[in-house]
Amino acid sequence: MNLSAVILAAGQGTRMKSSLPKVLHPLLGKPMAWYALEAARQVVASQPVMVVGYAAHQVRETLGDQAQYVLQEPQLGTGHAVMQAEPLLRGKCDLLLVTYADMPLLTAATLGKLVEIAQSNPGPLSMLTVTNDEARGFGRILRDARGQVAAIVEEAQATLEQLAIRELNPGVYCFRADWLWESLKHIQLAPKGEYYLTDLVGLAVSGGHQIQTLAVEDPQEVIGINTRIHLAQAGALLQERINQQWMLAGVSMVDPSSVYIEPGVTLGQDTTLWPGTYLRGDTHIGAGCVIGPDTIIQDTRVGDECTLLSSVLEGAIVEDQVDMGPYCHLRKGARLARGVHMGNFGEVKNSTLGPGAKMGHFSYLGDTTVGAEANIGAGTITCNFDGTHKFHTEIGEGAFIGSDTMLVAPVKVGEGARTGAGAVVTKDIPPYTLAVGVPARVIKELKK
Ligand code: UD1
Ligand code: CA
Repeated sequence: MNLSAVILAAGQGTRMKSSLPKVLHPLLGKPMAWYALEAARQVVASQPVMVVGYAAHQVRETLGDQAQYVLQEPQLGTGHAVMQAEPLLRGKCDLLLVTYADMPLLTAATLGKLVEIAQSNPGPLSMLTVTNDEARGFGRILRDARGQVAAIVEEAQATLEQLAIRELNPGVYCFRADWLWESLKHIQLAPKGEYYLTDLVGLAVSGGHQIQTLAVEDPQEVIGINTRIHLAQAGALLQERINQQWMLAGVSMVDPSSVYIEPGVTLGQDTTLWPGTYLRGDTHIGAGCVIGPDTIIQDTRVGDECTLLSSVLEGAIVEDQVDMGPYCHLRKGARLARGVHMGNFGEVKNSTLGPGAKMGHFSYLGDTTVGAEANIGAGTITCNFDGTHKFHTEIGEGAFIGSDTMLVAPVKVGEGARTGAGAVVTKDIPPYTLAVGVPARVIKELKK
């Protein structure tokens, strides 16, 4: 059976007290709505349809072509929201999954089970239910004497007796599409001025159909986000899920509650993460590394057996057996080859350090190529920017840059060359020579 998904995301989310639409609030580096999209994409082959309304343009811009969009304007309730998808989907699917952009913890596994139930259900409506003492404003599920679902009553309309019901409506359904499009036309306007999707339950029952339900085992899956308190709770739960998955895959975490790994990040076996580690964006870490404490890694590839202590890495590539920190900063385009050692307070931008190069203390390398086994002395600075343009510095294999050398780019230090402490290098230094002074001049040849 042909399956499509609709994700409702048109509401404003006033209780967030924010200029940002609720569904774009970040959770572990992704907009909230990304999680619902991702779960739907795992069970539905076609692109999910997202119903947008409040700040529609911004929502579309941010989520891009991960979804198709339909506009709901004005927002007249959940039933009205689903109606907006009809022109796009009518005749294109047999089953329609309906879910929410503000329910980021709902898993693809649960959606998949609901779809399975819907596929074997001869009736038109299958839905999730959850039993929870904390009602959080959810509609109550009314069952008849035989235990069949009879109706859903919204919290605002419920009697005291109904309010005590603990079986709740998470609001996630799988419908037979032809029945859905037809029945949506029969929903009456509720006193609140909205068309309630939940009225379809009553319509199905009065049409003689039996409703199939799937009880969600973990109530946390269907936490809807309405406030920033809910957002923080959902963030912590997502973090816990991701961290547990990596621990089961062989990654050690000294204190998982203080390790933040975004979805999409990958890690190798026997890597250890210390507290205060943040792995963000398109980041991939190899096996046997020790990372942190207090290390932030964004959009960076790290090889095997690296030690990264209290450092910040962004848009960098770090090969195997690199040891770094504390307090290093790799910026965009930094590439550290195998076995590089970078001690405290180093900054590297748009530069490559060759295999085994060492940069022990307080240095800045920008737009620089460093050959294998070169030694960058304490306080070495590349003066790569004249206020308008950036210039390149080249340091040859095995070169030895003396403490506090200034390399005024563009400039080349030859293979095996040395600079004296405090040299200000303004002209190229030939291979295997020693240059000293300000400005630096060659004072002797060196043995190869
Ligand atoms: C709805 C259900 C309720 C259920 C709860 C679970 C109805 C009438 N009630 O109530 O039984 O327990 O969800 O979360 O369906 N939305 C739109 N357009 C609209 C209105 C809402 O896209 O015109 C979207 C919102 O952005 C939100 C979702 O639908 O993501 C739910 O809307 P909301 O108004 O929060 O419904 P509830 O009152 O919570
Ligand atoms: Ca809600």
